Formats: sequence, structure tokens, C-alpha cells
Amino acid sequence: MKVLNCPEEMRAWSDAQRGRHKTIGFVPTMGALHAGHLSLAEAAVRENDTAVASIFVNPTQFAPHEDFNRYPRPFEADMAKLEGVGVEAVYAPSPAGMYPEEYSTYVIVEQVSEGLCGGSRPHFFRGVATVVTKLFNAVKPHRAYFGQKDAQQCAVIKRMARDLDMGIEIVEMPIVREPDGLAMSSRNVYLTEEDRKRALCLSRSLFEAEARLRDGEHDADSIVRGVRDGMAGVEIDYVALVDAETMRPVREITGPILLAVAAQLPTARLIDNIKFDPKGTNA
Ligand code: PAJ
Repeated sequence: MKVLNCPEEMRAWSDAQRGRHKTIGFVPTMGALHAGHLSLAEAAVRENDTAVASIFVNPTQFAPHEDFNRYPRPFEADMAKLEGVGVEAVYAPSPAGMYPEEYSTYVIVEQVSEGLCGGSRPHFFRGVATVVTKLFNAVKPHRAYFGQKDAQQCAVIKRMARDLDMGIEIVEMPIVREPDGLAMSSRNVYLTEEDRKRALCLSRSLFEAEARLRDGEHDADSIVRGVRDGMAGVEIDYVALVDAETMRPVREITGPILLAVAAQLPTARLIDNIKFDPKGTNA
């Protein structure tokens, strides 16, 4: 597996692949890889001639009080996992290389990034959109893979790729869960045993809501109230029922929606969601 540490090296590798008419699938990550990340990497390998993953803990998407310094960085183990699923190149730039002194350019995606996580982490999507743009410019992929786990992030990246004519297909992959329902996350390692148990109320409440939606419940307020009740044991950041594409609040459920939750547990902030389309199968 090839490891590339700066944009020039990365671009040269990608240009060589493109010169051989190979399609490039790309999986951006912050490392500390679990089965959720690997499901994206497997899809990138399967659906393209060659696959690249990036590992970069992006400082611009963390606020000063957040966990940038203690974010897990098991680089060697991550490399072995990526190699194991057939990824051919890893882009691992340095923070100083990505953000040299006097760095001044940021990508802001309006509207779709404003509610939900954008409300509680105002710095977050500016950092994500900026770093993903920089990664796209270095990797030059044909397709890029993102997880529904971060559904608003997917919506932001899709909108950005469309608005800025990036010509990259954004592929959204389903949430990979632990056997008991907890959505896999690199931050789950922070959870104490007690918080790990409490964390289950997120997925349980979402699954209960999903059953009610399937039974034909159309009233968004009633669904949100049910989820809030189910999450009474944790500090809720938000429970939001929004249009799946625009992230705008919905009252009556008539088209594809996203039901998303965030909670601040003593040891970690957790997010989870489900998507539902009353006219079709679950997205
Ligand atoms: P990270 O949290 O490492 O996640 C990388 C990708 O893995 C994201 O697209 C995320 O949605 C996906 N993912 C995480 N947990 C998942 C799960 N349980 N099932 C399916 N997919 C899952 O998201 C980021 O990094 C960063 O914001 C990044 C896009 C790399 C920009 O810095």
C-alpha cells in the first residue's frame, strides 16, 4: 500500500491512475477505524478500479474545547485494516502541510449546514467542507464515500459537490451498528461502562420511532416527542425531524425525512439517525 504525505505526491499518484484510465474511489476519514469506516472502504474498492483512503484528524472542525488532542490516532493498526480490505493508497497529510501559516481560505455551505450539528457546533461544517475540498483536490477521485452516520455531513458534501461543480459522485453508505444497536463511532472508546449502557437509548428511541413511521404516523411533533421521552436518561443536544436533503424542519411527513439525534453523555457526545421515506422503502 502506498502512503502519500503531501498534496503534490497524492496528485501525482492519482494522475498516474487517471492516465491509465482507472476510476478512483475515495474514503475520507480521521482514522481510529472501525467496521463502519471499513464498509465505506470495501464499497470504494468494489465499485472503482482503485481505492484511496485519507487519515487526517482535521483541526479546523474541532472547537478549542473539543477532543482534538485526545482523538485516538492508532495509525499502524489503521493502515493494516485498510490494506486488509484492498485499499491501494493512503493519503496522510500533516496539519502544518494542510494549514500553513497565514492559511485563509474556507468553504462555507449555507442553509443545509445551519441546523442540527451546525447549531450546536457552529465551527464544524466550515472545517469539514474546507478539508474535504482540499482532500478532493489532492486525491481527484471519481467517487467519494460517506456514511449516513453523519447524515448532515453527507448532505453538506453533496450540496457542496453540486454547487461547486466538483464532478465527483458522492455515495452515501448505511450506518454500521454494534450487535445491540449502538452506531459505531471512533468516539465510543471514550464511553465508560455506565455511559455505554445509557447510550443505547439513542438507537432504541430511533427504532421505536421508525416502527411508528412504518405504521403510518405522519405527525413530526409526535415522533419527536416520542424520541425525546425515550432519551430522558441522557442530556439531549437535539432531536430533529427534517427533510432528508435540505435539512429543513418538517411538520407533516410526506416525503423522505431524516430523524436525527445528538446527546452529550458525561464521557462523549454521540449522534445517531434514521431515514424514512413514506412512499418507498427505508433509505
Ligand atoms: P470520521 O468520523 O473518521 O468518519 C469517516 C467516515 O466514516 C464518514 O463518512 C462517516 O460518516 C463514516 N462513518 C463513521 N461511523 C460510521 C458507521 N457507524 N457506519 C457507517 N459509516 C460510518 O467524518 C469524518 O471522519 C470527518 O468529518 C471527515 C469527513 C473525514 C472530514 O474531516
